[in-house]
Amino acid sequence: MGNGMGTVALLLLLFVYFLQVGGGLGLEQGHQTERISGSAGDVLEDDPVGRLKVFVYELPSKYNKKILQKDPRCLTHMFAAEIFMHRFLLSSPVRTLNPEEADWFYTPVYTTCDLTPNGLPLPFKSPRMMRSAIQLISSNWPYWNRTEGADHFFVVPHDFGACFHYQEEKAIERGILHMLKRATLVQTFGQRNHVCLKEGSINIPPYAPPQKMQAHLIPPDTPRSIFVYFRGLFYDVGNDPEGGYYARGARASVWENFKDNPLFDISTEHPTTYYEDMQRAVFCLCPLGWAPWSPRLVEGVIFGCIPVIIADDIVLPFADAIPWEEIGVFVAEKDVPKLDTILTSIAPEVILRKQRLLANPSMKQAMLFPQPAQAGDAFHQILNGLARKLPHDKSIYLKPGQKVLNWTAGPVGDLKPW
Ligand SMILES: *[C@@H]1O[C@H](CO)[C@@H](O)[C@H](O)[C@H]1NC(C)=O
Ligand SMILES: *[C@@H]1O[C@H](CO)[C@@H](O)[C@H](O)[C@H]1NC(C)=O
Repeated sequence: MGNGMGTVALLLLLFVYFLQVGGGLGLEQGHQTERISGSAGDVLEDDPVGRLKVFVYELPSKYNKKILQKDPRCLTHMFAAEIFMHRFLLSSPVRTLNPEEADWFYTPVYTTCDLTPNGLPLPFKSPRMMRSAIQLISSNWPYWNRTEGADHFFVVPHDFGACFHYQEEKAIERGILHMLKRATLVQTFGQRNHVCLKEGSINIPPYAPPQKMQAHLIPPDTPRSIFVYFRGLFYDVGNDPEGGYYARGARASVWENFKDNPLFDISTEHPTTYYEDMQRAVFCLCPLGWAPWSPRLVEGVIFGCIPVIIADDIVLPFADAIPWEEIGVFVAEKDVPKLDTILTSIAPEVILRKQRLLANPSMKQAMLFPQPAQAGDAFHQILNGLARKLPHDKSIYLKPGQKVLNWTAGPVGDLKPW
């Protein structure tokens, strides 16, 4: 019994400590920001205009506009970047109408805009659609054959990128669509040493609706009275009936260890005050789900809630420009049972510094795909990433008649016309 009282007293102490640190921070938020000197902050503010030229292929509308007409929900789901990137490029000053002077070629094909009645994107048709689009550009223009795609980029924001399957095992079995093996992929999926992430890909944040988030901003001096916040699934009973596979068990472990811990405000229920709650929290958990990345990461940055990233070997968005190690907290999946100790041991000045870095508008801007685009936003970070890959190595250009890719490689099902 003495032990139990001790624990309660300790928790209360910690909680008071948090109210103070959190409250103090709240006051400073929005007024005091901090830049990381050196490359990081500066790279985020780079202007891509004048550093690259992009040619946008004109495809029949069945590859893009018609698909969107059939299901406008595609504009709001977390993979919507593929649509917004197309719109952005059409009116971007980096666009060139002369393919002869282009550094990069872009193919506007909306492969994730195929939703179930519940709004889940199913990528079953994506490989055939992608293959069909590549067939078309390679027969109508000479540029694909020149490099077999090495100066082409594709936006593939699905769970496992160009592996085009939502189940990891199947995605790994499929691997990256063969025809995209030489192209640069712009994707949310990022995990080191994984077949669905190849060297040179550009990792982007998932799409989160900027206006909706803006509408929920609360005064920046609101105290951060919640220590740890999380809303989302802990188990995915529907898709993982045996349990344990979902989020590699990390989310289940968060629930089992901390469901009764007063420092943890965690639940599966998504309240209407979700965005406001994040602005009242010090730490926001970003555990992997089916894929390692999480929309919560974007929300954490926008709402100044320090993201606690629980996803071993994750490759985060724009990691060459955003100092994730300094903004967030990385917790190994195996250390989830120690999450309370790990987070309560972080010194107040370290928390303060992370909050000041998070308050930096350029970090927030880089996470968003606003309409219309704004300097420094995620569109611009993608272009900056492409510009940093220039000039192309001479070796990407094939000799006349030389072929590297095999048009008939991959599952037979993928070869059926789309
Ligand atoms: C490019 O190569 C493909 C396959 O070898 C061929 O069918 C196509 O005609 C070529 N495209 C051009 C524009 O020559
Ligand atoms: C292309 O891939 C198919 C299917 O895997 C295979 O049967 C064929 O031999 C390959 N062609 C070449 C030239 O490697």
